[in-house]
Amino acid sequence: VAVSWEPSKGALSYTAVAQGSGGYASVCNNSDTACLFSDLLCGLNYSITVTASDDRCSSAESSAVKISTPCVPQKVTAKMVCSNDTGVVSWEE
Ligand SMILES: *[C@@H]1O[C@H](CO)[C@@H](O)[C@H](O)[C@H]1NC(C)=O
Ligand SMILES: *[C@@H]1O[C@H](CO)[C@@H](O)[C@H](O)[C@H]1NC(C)=O
Ligand SMILES: *[C@@H]1O[C@H](CO)[C@@H](O)[C@H](O)[C@H]1NC(C)=O
Repeated sequence: VAVSWEPSKGALSYTAVAQGSGGYASVCNNSDTACLFSDLLCGLNYSITVTASDDRCSSAESSAVKISTPCVPQKVTAKMVCSNDTGVVSWEE
């Protein structure tokens, strides 16, 4: 999940937190105004907030952005229905 935000006045660095619905959290620090979360779990709702810091203080949290992470479909199968020239593909929810 790629997250970005506008620069905030006085900020030297930012901390983005992705808090998952299962209690899993991922943290990313950057002096730039973007972060890439590459370790999120699938099938969860994440709430993403960003705080800004200078060398002494941290700001309050930004308003949260919510995102849900879909899982890769499993058990993909394909079969022919010869009677009507149709191919049928199905997968698990
Ligand atoms: C991000 O910065 C915070 C505060 O300085 C620190 O506690 C945390 O360990 C850092 N996390 C990462 C992933 O660098
Ligand atoms: C994520 O949020 C949606 C909408 O609020 C909800 O229907 C769904 O059950 C949630 N999923 C999880 C894994 O909590
Ligand atoms: C072909 O037959 C299958 C199985 O009866 C059916 O599910 C499918 O909708 C049919 N396809 C068309 C194009 O009529």
